[in-house]
Parts: sequence; structure tokens; C-alpha cells
Amino acid sequence: KPFYLPAIDTTSGASSRSPNSPYITSARFSFRRARARSAKKRASDQKPPIEHAVDATAATMSGRTQLWVEKYRPTRIDDLASQEEVTKTLRGAIAQGQLPHLLMYGPPGTGKTSTILAVARTLYHPSVLKDRVLEMNASDERGIKIVRDKIKNFASHSVSSQKFDGYPSPPFKIIILDECDSMTKDAQGALRRTMEVYSSTTRFCLICNYVSRIIEPLVSRCAKLRFSPLGRDAMQKRLLDIASAQDVNYDATIYDQILDRSGGDMRRAVTLLQSCHTFYGDKTPNVEELSGGVPASLIEPLWTAVKANNLTEMSRLIDSLTLEGYSAATCFSELHDIVLKDAAVTDAQKATFFEAVAAADKCLADGANDHLQLQTVCAVLCH
Ligand SMILES: Nc1ncnc2c1ncn2[C@@H]1O[C@H](COP(=O)(O)OP(=O)(O)O)[C@@H](O)[C@H]1O
Ligand SMILES: [Mg+2]
Repeated sequence: KPFYLPAIDTTSGASSRSPNSPYITSARFSFRRARARSAKKRASDQKPPIEHAVDATAATMSGRTQLWVEKYRPTRIDDLASQEEVTKTLRGAIAQGQLPHLLMYGPPGTGKTSTILAVARTLYHPSVLKDRVLEMNASDERGIKIVRDKIKNFASHSVSSQKFDGYPSPPFKIIILDECDSMTKDAQGALRRTMEVYSSTTRFCLICNYVSRIIEPLVSRCAKLRFSPLGRDAMQKRLLDIASAQDVNYDATIYDQILDRSGGDMRRAVTLLQSCHTFYGDKTPNVEELSGGVPASLIEPLWTAVKANNLTEMSRLIDSLTLEGYSAATCFSELHDIVLKDAAVTDAQKATFFEAVAAADKCLADGANDHLQLQTVCAVLCH
């Protein structure tokens, strides 16, 4: 009994202090009114949610301004370029209306997110898609609280058994945890139990770049699907298809340059193609510049200076590279290719170089100075 209510006098028979008396009722009402007033005030104090602004921008984007990576995102499993192993496995699972927990891993831009979205579209009718699929980007919301609240909330509601023609409509929901290699270990640990508790109504799809960052108990609960970098032929075909759909006509050498710069990452290739089109129109684009890579005119002289043990020239070139805003990591990746191809460098020397780059990479990840790290690696190369 709430402490603020006077004791009920049961002996007097007076009903004015009973739980049903107007006193109590009016007290309840006034509490409700007060709560409603404060809720109204809170709402008026708040700024409009940021999602509204994003929605409005998205709505005003016409097909012309849409990003090509989204416009040409594969919507069906059959549209995926490469990844034959993955698509074969998934087709089998879909045909049976069965899906285990999935762990998709592989480098960026190889179709992981697109694949699970395509699977969801194949399994469920568009009208129930929202109720059946929860997509969460674990990079934004990776705390243990999200695992506990959001997932449990979604997973604990049972699914209707409504069937639609042409859709297997299996009796479970899908929770997609994208980029879950950036989830904390605690959150991953919490997920372990959640996956088990709701396994009768829910399937999890964990997506990550590095499978080694997922805790073993989660890995062992999932069927693993490995996505490899796309093959050059498959990428070229897809790129040419997009180019012709967008009425882009470049020389074959431009597509070659784009593919060289993409390293099996289809997202990067499509983005680069669109950047070329946006910035250069029908003129011949400077792919090197747009891709953010270090131009050969800067990196090759550096290699020459290093080979000639010319420290003064080396320092001057490193200064100009950092002043022009090229990161040490980009320079390392260009140097890596050059050193690897140079027949004059022995295997032992290459090994020493790789070791130095690996050490520098760790330092950079810890926040070290780009300029100093570049100088250190070049000094090792001089030796
Ligand atoms: N296998 C693929 N086939 C065709 N396009 C692809 C493929 N992989 C990636 N893409 C393109 O790259 C974009 C990003 O793909 P996404 O599935 O988000 O990659 P990931 O999740 O592996 O980083 C897609 O919108 C699509 O345009
Ligand atoms: Mg993705």
C-alpha cells in the first residue's frame, strides 16, 4: 500500500478512505495528468530525430544521384558475381526452407551484406520482411546492452505462420549482425546464450571481415561461409555491365586501372567508376588520382633513392609525400608491390622489409607518426 495514502478505517464502515474512494481515484488521475504533462514537455524540448533528416535526404535522391553501389546491389542470389560455393550452399538451404545460424566472413566489398539481404528477400514476402528481419550494424551499436535489449526484444516475439505463394516463409526470424568483429568480447559472450535461448524462433547471421576476432563459442554455433575477393573476370564483366547501363564509355585501359586499384573489392571498383564519371564525365579520367593511391611519379623516385642509399633525397621525397597528404600505409602498400616485383632484391631482404612494414603497421594502428614510420621502413630498406 502506497505510503502516502492514509490508513483505511475498516471498523467505521466509512467508504471514503477505501481503495475505491474518490480520494484515491483523483490522486491517480492527477498523477497521470502530471506524467502526461512532463512527457509532453520532454517531447517539445527534444530536437527532431536525426533519422528524419536522413530519410528526407534519401527521399529527394533521384535515380540519377543514387550511388551506383546501391543501385546495382545484387537483389537475388543469382545476381551475385563469383562466390559460387556460397551461393550453392545457400540455394540448398533455401530449397529446404532451412537455415542454420550463419557466419559470413571475408574482405570488404565481396557481397556479404548483399547475400544475406537477398536470402531474406527469397525467404519472406516483402510485406512481412520488416517483421522477420532485424538488421543491425554492430559497429554503431556494439555494446552488451544492445545484445541484451534489442536482440532479445526482437527474438522473443513469436512469428506468425502465415504463408505466401512463392515464398518458403520459414517459421523463424533472421537477425543480421553486420560487422560483428567490432563487437566487444562481452557482447559476443552475451550473444552466445541469446542464440541458444531463441534458436527455435530465430536464426542469426553474423557478418565480419576477420573471423579470428569472433569468439570460438560463437564460431562453433554457425555454419561458416567464406567470401573470397572477386575474380578479375567476374569484376570486369560486372563493371562493364554497370558502365553500359549508365552510358559510360571508357577505354579498356581505364577499366584495367580501376580493377588494378580495387584488389577484388567490388564496392571499391563501382565507387571508383562512379567517381570517374562524376569528376571527369566523358573525358579520360585520372584513376590513380581518384583512387587515392600514390602516383608512380612520387613512389618510383623514392625507390630509386632508397636503392642508391641516398638518404638526403629519400628524406626529401618522404617529406613531400607526407606534405601532400599520402598516408604511410598507402606508401607501404605501393612499396610492397614494387619491392616484391624487383628481381634485384633477394628473398632475405624482402623478408626483412615485410617484417619492418608489419612492425610499422602495428605502430600506426597504435597512433604512431606517419612520417617517422615511413622514414624507419625506408631506412631498413636502405640497409
Ligand atoms: N559478389 C558481388 N557481385 C556483385 N556485386 C557485388 C558483389 N559483392 C559486392 N558487390 C557490390 O559491392 C557493393 C557492396 O557489397 P556488400 O554486399 O555490401 O559487401 P560486403 O558486405 O561484403 O562488404 C554492392 O552494393 C554491390 O554493388
Ligand atoms: Mg557489409
